[in-house]
Amino acid sequence: MNSEDLKIGWIGLGKMGKPMSEQLIRAGYTLQVYNRSKEKEAVLKKEGASSASSPKELLEQTDVVFLMVSDDSATHEIFSGKNGLLKADVSNKIIINMSTVSPEISREMARELANNGNHYLDAPVSGSVKQAQEASLVIIAGGEKAIFEKVRPLLETIGKKAVFIGETGTGNLTKLAVNTYLGIITQGLAEVIHFSREKGVNTGDLLEIINNSALGSPFIKIKGDAVLQENYEAAFTLNHLTKDLGLAVDAGMNTPLGKLAFETFRNAEPDLGKEDVIAIIKKL
Ligand SMILES: NC(=O)c1ccc[n+]([C@@H]2O[C@H](COP(=O)([O-])OP(=O)(O)OC[C@H]3O[C@@H](n4cnc5c(N)ncnc54)[C@H](OP(=O)(O)O)[C@@H]3O)[C@@H](O)[C@H]2O)c1
Repeated sequence: MNSEDLKIGWIGLGKMGKPMSEQLIRAGYTLQVYNRSKEKEAVLKKEGASSASSPKELLEQTDVVFLMVSDDSATHEIFSGKNGLLKADVSNKIIINMSTVSPEISREMARELANNGNHYLDAPVSGSVKQAQEASLVIIAGGEKAIFEKVRPLLETIGKKAVFIGETGTGNLTKLAVNTYLGIITQGLAEVIHFSREKGVNTGDLLEIINNSALGSPFIKIKGDAVLQENYEAAFTLNHLTKDLGLAVDAGMNTPLGKLAFETFRNAEPDLGKEDVIAIIKKL
């Protein structure tokens, strides 16, 4: 079956899942969606998607199901809850979990699916809401190479690049490494802004210098602008980053800056969890 003939299911229409799933509709795929809070399905339905009453029903009616949900617990609920994916009596289906979750839950769900001849890819993404809207995410996949190649055209519709890393869970591990770096540079940026402000340096001047140096990056530009505008509305919530740093620690990340970033964000989470990651500057 060619990828354009595949019927696609999508679970999780949050900040990331909505724009990512919209890329598939725009590219002409037939999409069926499921979101725990049903009201979030309305926009997708207006754009031509149909909806399913449960993950089980969604899997029964489609060939490939994407997940973009919060964490391990949401993934567990979608797979093993009442009317979850694992309750469907189906085979040869492909589940692509794009959420940032632990390698362990990926291995567990891949094993469960394999019992009935179904397949699992862990395929978390690097990039945020803007990149999801522009289909410029980088997708980091683990699982069976042949399954990855089969769905590659779908992944390349959602992102600008899809990289196959290795066996199940290696996509998750790589993503946790990327987000550990993100935590470290977010804390670093917040600290140098705070330090230079205290010494009377204008923050706009500091950011202009960083952005025009080899240290500049799209990330530093976006987060620097957010600080200048005091706009901490979340593109990537601080509680999701704390979750990712915690998963990295659980997976064995045991180095000074990574551990420190985890402590810093974990301490800030009760107050700032729903704000953007760069809101960490308010804690300095
Ligand atoms: N935002 C970013 O910049 C970014 C970038 C890269 C990766 N990520 C990762 O992508 C994933 C999604 O992030 P997001 O920012 O889109 O999060 P979000 O806006 O909070 O959306 C979370 C989604 O998960 C669903 N969900 C949560 N708990 C659930 C449960 N127990 N059962 C069923 N569904 C549940 C939510 O359903 P409801 O609508 O019912 O709450 C919603 O659809 C996370 O793993 C995050 O770490 C995020």
